[in-house]
Amino acid sequence: MLPSSTFRDQVVIVTGGGTGIGLAIARRFGELGAHLVLASRSAAHLDEAAEGLRAAGLSALTVPTDVRDPAQVDAMVARAVEAFGRIDVLVNNAAGNFICRAEDLSPNGWNAVISIVLNGSFYCSRAVGRHLIARGGGGAIVSILANYVWTGSPGTIHSAAAKAGVMSMTQTLAVEWARHGIRVNAVAPGPVESPGAARQLWPNQQAVQRITDGVPLGRWGRPGEVADAVTYLASPYAGFITGEVLTIDGGAWMSGGDYGFLGEDGK
Ligand code: HXC
Ligand code: NAP
Repeated sequence: MLPSSTFRDQVVIVTGGGTGIGLAIARRFGELGAHLVLASRSAAHLDEAAEGLRAAGLSALTVPTDVRDPAQVDAMVARAVEAFGRIDVLVNNAAGNFICRAEDLSPNGWNAVISIVLNGSFYCSRAVGRHLIARGGGGAIVSILANYVWTGSPGTIHSAAAKAGVMSMTQTLAVEWARHGIRVNAVAPGPVESPGAARQLWPNQQAVQRITDGVPLGRWGRPGEVADAVTYLASPYAGFITGEVLTIDGGAWMSGGDYGFLGEDGK
């Protein structure tokens, strides 16, 4: 458990911070003293999340943003700096995903996911990195990958390729921005309870059971467990860690690495 003042007066941007894992991450940073900036497409997601955070006594600014658009990303970062005077941490959490066989995936379908996950993470990292470098360095970036960066993922080729790209970006930026004191890390969760992911990836109990059976620890991860890892990596307690990927999956990828998204027979 990190001390409750770990991020006191710091400013943390969480993309996709209005739902699921992103909201749990935002909440945990807030509980550790941070001012929060939530950025995603849907004002409704953001407003509902911010209301809950403020009701818990936390400080949250919402900035509707499509991370696929670099101009919107730059404007979001400028708005955060205008509101709070600084940014200290970026969490690249926004994502899109759906199950589709590779041979059936349209170029638009491929681009939809690559644009959110890979391009969006780059645009946000670039905008926040520029701010951190201009103010003299320091700060941290943590990106949310998935445990299939280690294996690939039949049925979600777009997401697996994009997440692997963000992993490579994490390693590149860790070295490139080390001289500015900016640490860049990632977490790679396995299956985590989240309505957004459930809608896209495990629509019925049969699929849920199949995925559970593939986790050696025998259960799903909790959003708060991802939040614990992200806040640790962004904190001074991880001050000598950069370019690292922390897998949070109950041992799942080592025991198979196929979610069975394409069904029992894999066809
Ligand atoms: C095939 C599909 C499809 C599907 C969309 N497309 N859904 N193709 N099967 N189920 C195709 C469309 O036909 C279209 O191509 C193209 O993708 C773009 O679709 P749009 O609906 O116009 O895109 P957009 O409105 O931009 O929405 C983006 C999205 C959507 C990614 C498609 O699902 C989304 O907004 N997702 C955000 C939330 C989300 O996905 N959360 C889950 C994250 S969980 P054509 O050719 O027809 O024009 C996660 C877990 C990972 O990442 C790890 C698990 C273990
Ligand atoms: P989720 O609730 O659907 O989260 C996705 C978030 O991304 C939403 O808040 C969405 O908000 C935002 N988003 C999507 N497209 C965007 C865009 N173009 N611009 C800005 N924001 C956008 O699902 P989740 O499960 O919590 O996923 C959170 C992260 O965890 C993702 O990176 C996901 O890949 C990762 N992950 C999840 C699991 C799991 O099992 N759940 C496992 C491994 C990794 P809007 O709709 O408002 O834009």
